[in-house]
Amino acid sequence: MSDHAYQQCINPDCQATFAIDEVHIQCPTCDALLDIKYDWNRLPRPMWEIFEHRWMTKGEQNHGRLDFSGVWRFRELLPFYKNHDQIVSIGEGRTNLQDARRLAPVIGLKPGNLHLQYEGLNPTGSFKDNGMTAAFTHAKMVGADKVACASTGNTSASLAMFADMSGMTGIVFIGSGKIAYGKLSQALDYGARTLQISGDFDACLKRVRELTTQAPQLGVYLMNSVNPFRLEGQKSIMYRILEARNWVAPDWIIVPGGNLGNCSAFGKAFMELKELQLIDRIPRLAVIQAKGANPLYTLYTERGIRWNAGHWDKDAKDTLYNEYDRDNTKAKTIASAIEIGRPVNLPKALRALDFMNGVVRQVDDETILEHKALVGRYGFGCEPASAASVAGARLLLEEGIISPDDDVVCILTGHQLKDPDATVKYHTGIDVKSIQTEAPRTEPTGKLANPPIPVANDLAEIITALGGDPAQIQVLQQ
Ligand code: F0G
Repeated sequence: MSDHAYQQCINPDCQATFAIDEVHIQCPTCDALLDIKYDWNRLPRPMWEIFEHRWMTKGEQNHGRLDFSGVWRFRELLPFYKNHDQIVSIGEGRTNLQDARRLAPVIGLKPGNLHLQYEGLNPTGSFKDNGMTAAFTHAKMVGADKVACASTGNTSASLAMFADMSGMTGIVFIGSGKIAYGKLSQALDYGARTLQISGDFDACLKRVRELTTQAPQLGVYLMNSVNPFRLEGQKSIMYRILEARNWVAPDWIIVPGGNLGNCSAFGKAFMELKELQLIDRIPRLAVIQAKGANPLYTLYTERGIRWNAGHWDKDAKDTLYNEYDRDNTKAKTIASAIEIGRPVNLPKALRALDFMNGVVRQVDDETILEHKALVGRYGFGCEPASAASVAGARLLLEEGIISPDDDVVCILTGHQLKDPDATVKYHTGIDVKSIQTEAPRTEPTGKLANPPIPVANDLAEIITALGGDPAQIQVLQQ
């Protein structure tokens, strides 16, 4: 199928094209990001019925392994591979659109108008598996045997599992003390070579990019979302939402923003669906950042930077990053997954916001944790970064940008068990990481804090703790 596909620079003044089996991190001519492009004319249609049939038959057809995948059953929408055998799949993307009926009114929406796309159901517990399956497929196409990424945790977990499954060497760069233990444990368990460097995610990404460009003798293939094949896989999150809604777009898609790969992929998905005339209406996009890691918010919302048909203001970005350097500002948030100060996909995110009439908001850590607790109480649960989407929905409702009648889909990007420390700390006040150092315990302050209740190992005490009357204990006949 590769004669349908090629790579193209997104800079409108360049638009250089490259063969699909070349490996580039960015445009070799002008350094801009690359897109994967297709000659759609040869695609069969109508396609929605085909996709749905694959889902209904649960992978019992000719291409069972591919039909089972929530990414590859939409394979006509990412046809960059040459033959089906090249596809590296571990059963990713079988995720749910949950009707969060009880949570909807709590944040100001009508019941039935809030859905949570639960990407925590992926094999490694985050949306990253959607992108990794596509990037590993390309890595296999080009004969790579070593793959690497910088990560705040989930990318490394996903890379590590895919590398292990496909017999490649996985290398992950993580910042010291910057990664939730659930995620670190995955990378270690799957046997990835894990390099912990002093520095944050931005420093790790800089180094791993240097490794792939300045040490070509190592033959390391880059797996971060600057790799355009990653984004091809992440488009499928939008296809699954549409499929679950009978191919009717919601009013809003709300997603947390870190390195901005996901929102970029969503924009590309809708640009292509429009081009293919598979969809009439484009949902609006809201990207939510943590207040302590908010470069997109600063540039887009505060400083008014727009895609501007590809001629966006790069000087404004440089000015902001120079300010960070001057003031020694580092990204800092409890939502460690999105603790990123220099997102590589910024231009594509601006393009997505332009196409989807988007907005960008920021939420502080306390708000993120309160909304994580709400998702735990009324949804499938999620890690802190994911809850930024629900917190953002509420903020936009309060601002009147979203109306209570709107149909809203929030993306829950990662599983609750990814960062149990944050959850335990919220509900109990115990800082798990500091237990060994005997740091003093603080009382939990969260509104939904639900600490365990200490009870004596005694039936009467247990009944009392549960609101019952111990005097009514029935004595059983022996
Ligand atoms: N939510 C979770 C749970 C994440 O792990 C990430 C990114 C994001 C949201 C942000 O997505 O980068 O596409 O804007 N995690 C990366 C990692 C950076 O290394 O795991 P984005």
